[in-house]
Amino acid sequence: MLIDTYGRVATDLRVSLTDRCNLRCTYCMPEEGLQWLAKPDLLTDDEIVRLVRIAVTDLGVTEVRFTGGEPLLRPGLVGLVERCAALTPRPRLSLTTNGIGLGRTAAALKAAGLDRVNVSLDTLRPEVFATLTRRKRHQDVLDGLAAAHAAGLTPVKVNAVLMPGLNDDEAPDLLAWAVEHDYELRFIEQMPLDAQHGWKRDGMITAQSILSSLRTRFDLTPEAEDERGAAPAERWLVDGGPARVGVIASVTRPFCAACDRTRLTADGQIRTCLFAREESDLRGALRSGAPDAEIARLWRLATTTKKAGSGLDDPAFLQPQRPMSAIGG
Ligand code: GTP
Ligand code: 5AD
Ligand code: SF4
Repeated sequence: MLIDTYGRVATDLRVSLTDRCNLRCTYCMPEEGLQWLAKPDLLTDDEIVRLVRIAVTDLGVTEVRFTGGEPLLRPGLVGLVERCAALTPRPRLSLTTNGIGLGRTAAALKAAGLDRVNVSLDTLRPEVFATLTRRKRHQDVLDGLAAAHAAGLTPVKVNAVLMPGLNDDEAPDLLAWAVEHDYELRFIEQMPLDAQHGWKRDGMITAQSILSSLRTRFDLTPEAEDERGAAPAERWLVDGGPARVGVIASVTRPFCAACDRTRLTADGQIRTCLFAREESDLRGALRSGAPDAEIARLWRLATTTKKAGSGLDDPAFLQPQRPMSAIGG
């Protein structure tokens, strides 16, 4: 088991497959992109599968989520999913993606064993999408979403970040659209994880303001508390259900006390939290021939460094050295 000093058990592994992305969301990266990891520094497919195997067979991990950057940019993703789905016990497998390319790959991913996807989409307006992401790929994302739903990668969840003056008036429209298409929409409070360090607490759209905006058009009733578990999203039934909407209020209502996550970066470092300031290297151990038991020991040890919370409310809070795109969301 991966148990931290506060008694939380990590059963949800997030694996970042690349730090690269084909969008440039303003709340994430600058136009010119970032200094990408060099190929030899990335874990190979074999190394990833080995670590996932150790996590599920020796460490009690039951959920594996592939993230990026943009994980669909990783060649061989379908093969990785297939190999992870063949593990015993079989972990549940999901993907968090910007949706570009999902139109082509959704069916193959499903056939390989992927269970579900979360797709990022912040706006229904192509011109606002182009401003927010600096790329004209809105239709590709809509096509990706439709393909994921048709392939049965369900529930298809949609992640939306609202930015002041850009799309903060769109919450009710996004929800009406999501309900119509059977996507589960979640709004995410913007976190200080952008490469440009431009986040400001008073410039962020809060969960409270998102909910007030939604309530101008919808009746929202809180989902039963026991259905939440360790999920980051608090959820509401929309107009009596069954449709639901979520809000991930990482800043104003953090869920750290229930956190069940452990993270692996594309270059083989364990991070215990999005906001962790230290990492533990597994790649070095892998490449120097360490046996499974030693890797498992290092992973357990890394877990004991997990802090109680994100530290966001601490006046001395410092952003982690890696931006969101290199951590994996
Ligand atoms: P499911 O609800 O199980 O599908 O997972 P999820 O919501 O964690 O997945 P996703 O990758 O779509 O993440 C949605 C948002 O939650 C992103 O903005 C993540 O950065 C944020 N998030 C994920 N894990 C954590 C975490 O450990 N802490 C905080 N504060 N936010 C997180
Ligand atoms: N704050 C909150 N969410 C973010 N995402 C990317 N950067 C941030 C940020 N600074 C979202 C993406 C994606 C998910 C993995 O994280 O939009 O949906
Ligand atoms: Fe890419 Fe995700 Fe960052 Fe947008 S938020 S630039 S989709 S990694």
